[in-house]
Amino acid sequence: MSLPKHLAIIMDGNGRWAKVRGKPRTYGHVKGTRVAKQIITECSRLGIQWLTLYAFSTENWYRPQGEVSLLMRILKRYLRKETENLLKENIRVTVVGETSRLPKDVREALEKTIQATSRCTGLNLVFALSYGSRQEIASAVRALAAEVAAGNLPAEKIDEALLSEKLWTHPAPDPDLIIRTSGESRLSNFLLWQAAYSEFWFTDVLWPDFNQKNLHDALGSYQQRQRRFGRVETSNEKLPDQTH
Ligand code: FPP
Repeated sequence: MSLPKHLAIIMDGNGRWAKVRGKPRTYGHVKGTRVAKQIITECSRLGIQWLTLYAFSTENWYRPQGEVSLLMRILKRYLRKETENLLKENIRVTVVGETSRLPKDVREALEKTIQATSRCTGLNLVFALSYGSRQEIASAVRALAAEVAAGNLPAEKIDEALLSEKLWTHPAPDPDLIIRTSGESRLSNFLLWQAAYSEFWFTDVLWPDFNQKNLHDALGSYQQRQRRFGRVETSNEKLPDQTH
């Protein structure tokens, strides 16, 4: 099997990584950002088409104010410093999530990076920011309900494909592989609808220690799996590509 078309990563364990070093949690986020940079470059080099990074969840707003504002500062600094490199690497940046909740300066920095990289044709890098999958599904349902109420959509026409089109992640294909670091084995409100047939790869490695070898191990493991999408593969019938 080839590379995943869409890889999604839950970058977990920054806080614990810092704690064992006797440092504040924010120290882990700074190191975690450096790691994210290296993994983005490696995915781009490998020719992966879509990479979604869970950088800030809707639940993360409930963290201490100091940690939230430092995460926002890190994000802004990353965007300011990295846009030039992203352009050079032909990486197109987009964002999914309730971006209206982000501070104005972060929104502006994001907008600049999205604009600047909009014509890039290499890796599609998606930052999940202020992202919650249940919120995303509720928003898609609201959009469809509004069309039904306006008389533009017969309710019986609503199917999986139509709902997928209203998700913030559209037009990204569903993730083929989801990696989560730091020993946790749960989705935590990340791509719930989109992960219906995703493969998972969990590792005890904390995100700030995650490296190229770990990424290659995950991709290698993915390549050995047989994805049947709930069906049975017969010798003369190849299974279709299930992604939207
Ligand atoms: C989870 O670790 C990580 C986050 C909540 C933030 C992830 C953000 C980054 C890696 C930096 C942003 C990335 C870019 C590219 C700008 P945790 O704090 O939940 O760790 P813990 O579970 O050990 O407490």
